[in-house]
Amino acid sequence: MGGFCDLHCHILYGVDDGAQTVEDARALIEGAYSSGTRTICFTPHYNPFRKIDSAGAEETFRAFSAEMKEKYPDLTLCLGAEVLYHQKIADSLSRGACRTLNGTRFVLVEFLPDDDGQYIIQSLESVAARGYTPILAHAERYHSFLNKPKYALSVAEREFPIQLNVRSVTGENGKRVQKFCRLLLKEGAAAVIATDAHDPDYADARLDEGFHAVASRFGPEYATTIFCRMPRILLGLDPNG
Ligand SMILES: [Fe+2]
Repeated sequence: MGGFCDLHCHILYGVDDGAQTVEDARALIEGAYSSGTRTICFTPHYNPFRKIDSAGAEETFRAFSAEMKEKYPDLTLCLGAEVLYHQKIADSLSRGACRTLNGTRFVLVEFLPDDDGQYIIQSLESVAARGYTPILAHAERYHSFLNKPKYALSVAEREFPIQLNVRSVTGENGKRVQKFCRLLLKEGAAAVIATDAHDPDYADARLDEGFHAVASRFGPEYATTIFCRMPRILLGLDPNG
């Protein structure tokens, strides 16, 4: 196993509501690395309505990843985005206003917490119809999905990867959210567990606790798939790297 892979986080500093300073970002990377993470994709927010577009992300990424490469030679860093769903998402991607994950055709898509389940599914289908594969960010955050987990299973049936936040899986976001995550895990419907780390808190970028919780309940094979192999595949990387 080549270590954990964090597909979704806000560690890149000064580009969204995640880490604000390089010191915060360094602390988060240290937390991630020391707990066994070896691949990280930075996914700054893209929100066309609030003009959060992380335009400076590329430049910050180049400088920061060069620094991190020196310190952690076996750490792989890549750049993506967490795109708030909007009707013109495919146009935003093709004109470069926002980006896919590491230059692949996979797009990390988020919705608003109160968005309707049917609307979310149809919107994901509309992204796929334009030639991209949407990954549904933190499926446990949508109230419609929590009320009707069938929506989440429908997303998985359509082969759109579902991402869950590790803190939801370990119970830090409440029992109800954890129960929902466990149902998806039991059904094999969760494709990726990631941190969605925002805070300059050392622990926010760790995946190890969640990995052990999933491994003991659902088996090490599935845990390795969703913490290590699948996220690397979605980043266009060798799953065994
Ligand atoms: Fe996020």
